[in-house]
Amino acid sequence: YPSDLIRNFSIIAHIDHGKSTLADRLLEVRCFRRPHSVWKLRIDVGAKLTGTIDKRQKGLNKQVLDKLKVERERGITVKAQTASMIHKFAGHHYLLNLIDTPGHVDFAWEVSRSLAACQGALLLVDATQGIQAQSISVFHNARERGLKIIPVLNKIDLPAAQPDIIAAQVQSTFGIDPAECIQISAKTGMGVEKVLQAIIDRIPAPSGDESAPLKALLFDSLYDKYRGVISLVSIQGGVLKKGDKIASCHTRKKYDVVEVGIMHPEEVPTTSLRPGQVGYIACNMKESSEAHVGDTLHRAGEPVESMPGFKLAKAMVYAGVYPVDSNDFLKMEESIKRLILTDRSVEISRESSTALGQGLRLGFLGTLHMDVFRQRLEDEHDANVIITAPTVPYKVVYGDRSGNRTEIVSNPTNFPDITDSTARVKEILEPIVNASIIVPEEYLGDMMDLCFSHRGENLDHRYLDVTGSASSRIMMTCTLPLTEIVTDFYDKLKSRSSGFASFDYEDAGYQKSNMVKMTFLLNNKPVDALALIVHRSNEQEVGRQWVKKLHKIIPRQLFEVPIQAAVGRRIVARETLSALRADVTAGLYGGHYERKLKHLENQKESKRQMKRVGSIDLPQEAFLDMLRTK
Ligand code: GTP
Repeated sequence: YPSDLIRNFSIIAHIDHGKSTLADRLLEVRCFRRPHSVWKLRIDVGAKLTGTIDKRQKGLNKQVLDKLKVERERGITVKAQTASMIHKFAGHHYLLNLIDTPGHVDFAWEVSRSLAACQGALLLVDATQGIQAQSISVFHNARERGLKIIPVLNKIDLPAAQPDIIAAQVQSTFGIDPAECIQISAKTGMGVEKVLQAIIDRIPAPSGDESAPLKALLFDSLYDKYRGVISLVSIQGGVLKKGDKIASCHTRKKYDVVEVGIMHPEEVPTTSLRPGQVGYIACNMKESSEAHVGDTLHRAGEPVESMPGFKLAKAMVYAGVYPVDSNDFLKMEESIKRLILTDRSVEISRESSTALGQGLRLGFLGTLHMDVFRQRLEDEHDANVIITAPTVPYKVVYGDRSGNRTEIVSNPTNFPDITDSTARVKEILEPIVNASIIVPEEYLGDMMDLCFSHRGENLDHRYLDVTGSASSRIMMTCTLPLTEIVTDFYDKLKSRSSGFASFDYEDAGYQKSNMVKMTFLLNNKPVDALALIVHRSNEQEVGRQWVKKLHKIIPRQLFEVPIQAAVGRRIVARETLSALRADVTAGLYGGHYERKLKHLENQKESKRQMKRVGSIDLPQEAFLDMLRTK
């Protein structure tokens, strides 16, 4: 394919604005069979628009690009997928490479990675909802990369659609001429042809010289049981063919290319990949760790300068992962390593806990990311795992006469006791974010309360719509500690705004904070897996909440068990689990009052002894319950 007939684009949008539906619709675009074609197209007999997806198959598997089971169940896109399609326009056959992107804030990293292989982006906005928090962040992301942006207003088949008002909103927010907006319904297919035309007319063809040395940008990888690692690449220069010998700039390892092809949307082998093309290569790469996202591949013996890599994903939320059955550790580790191959944004290291045994510490981009990862682990690898409470990475500055030393702590067990002067903690810094919330005006007060109660600062707001009409939307901004949003902030935001608020955030560095470590003691013994890091202003409340919960979950013992929350040596909350009284007098019949008393006295004495021993009998299930509710 000559590069002037290629267009690389992506669809960017707020969650649920219809990206996957539009991607499906585009893949149905009229396709043709070339007699000597190298493409093994699955020709769609009954399709309205194309041949890339078979309609019948589509019925079974609603959104083809949303391949993962968890994506289908939750109706969200998690992992960006790539697909190519051929479209005939003005007598030419164009190769359109679509790179689908995920919608949730946690996956912003995947979005920016996909954009690196594109020259343009469709900015999809739901015409019933208008611009939402994430429409703004994805727009800026694409604009920074110099991509041509085509605004597309979706869902105009719905009676509530207000395409003209939303087009004005697009103008006031992004400075884009309303005449550039294309109105479509991804559901019915209305207007989709116009989108294709705009992709060809407005998005520039990729540049790249066929005679230049081979330069391929590795932007994603997947794992195939039989062929090993499959790398997705974008060819920046030169031609890549089956049989070529290639090498990696990063690892300097050499490989023989055994297959090249395009994603159509499944893998379809081709004879070569040319400049501007996006496709896959199989080259007997065995280990996932060999495929570095952002790496440059070149012809062996023909070194090139490596392209600037990608911004590395930064883990914002950490949690421990343990197998329910501790004998399954190695199996769990293997499954997780496999999964990470398809999700490079997860950080991994080993850790162990006295209560839970050997486990792994994983770093995720956010809590949804963590949830999705767990579900994928269960669905795809059949692993039964426990995930401990999420923590954000804190910076702990220690100081003594020889100077200051900063440590990143993402595990409550390693968090120092700041009340202990021998620990020499100078200060604690916590990660904060710049948050933006878009919400109808009437919810402004509730949203402000919510932010204040989560330690929000620098609150500000402005109107999004040009006119201050009754249904005006407001964009609110503030800074929030990251730890406040990793738990239940998002759920509260949705419920207090009747589902209307949208939320996005970006990293805003670290700030000094008064965080303390809270430990829980059962029968006066600390339980390491239950430790938490909390803000000093919340210690009483959190402590009380937790001892109450534990009181409910832990089964009663034969002796009294104190359940305490402590900060340093100070107990901030306490509940007492009363003793279970076995009926030792059950076998005695009336009249033997003294014998009964004697039995009860004996029972009391033996209980006292057990308490002295101080062991509590905690079934595994109760322990898991505690961790889960955490
Ligand atoms: P994420 O990938 O999770 O970000 O979502 P998405 O943007 O891909 O949204 P998706 O395509 O899953 O669409 C969300 C919902 O909107 C689905 O229920 C679609 O059926 C519906 N939808 C999409 N486009 C249209 C449209 O043009 N009209 C109507 N009425 N509904 C639509």
